[in-house]
Amino acid sequence: MLKLSINGQTTDIDAEEDTPLLWVLRDTVGLTGTKFGCGVAACGACTVHVDGEAVRSCVVPVSDVIGSEITTIEGLSPDGLDPVQVAWIEEQVPQCGYCQSGMIMAVSSLLRDNPSPTDADIDDAITNICRCGTYPRIRKAIHLAAKLRAEA
Ligand code: FES
Ligand code: FES
Repeated sequence: MLKLSINGQTTDIDAEEDTPLLWVLRDTVGLTGTKFGCGVAACGACTVHVDGEAVRSCVVPVSDVIGSEITTIEGLSPDGLDPVQVAWIEEQVPQCGYCQSGMIMAVSSLLRDNPSPTDADIDDAITNICRCGTYPRIRKAIHLAAKLRAEA
């Protein structure tokens, strides 16, 4: 049994130590908001926070996160109204939606480190892939989220 802290709750997990965190979240815990895209840390669909940092959970062995605080899209805010989520709704960012939870988690981490990112900062930090091409809306929403955070 492995003890993990996920979205503020301690949970006993029956999994092999080398199981990717993504599969523990989705298959063992049932938190399916975190998505599988590539499995090789290339697309960002599986992004979650580990101690506040964005990580691609498809390549993180679950044993690496014992003792850390893991946050998934389900735990980002109690009411779905994190400034990033509000900006996403305001700018109507998602198309199919598949990449979006990973995008939101990556952006939330970016804004914590850099509350007012430039377009160049966004290009450097947000390397997640969106097959629907929502990149212009994502950029607009990131600037709005930064403004909302500053006003909060
Ligand atoms: S599924 Fe993890 S980066 Fe693509
Ligand atoms: S909204 Fe469809 S993959 Fe990004």
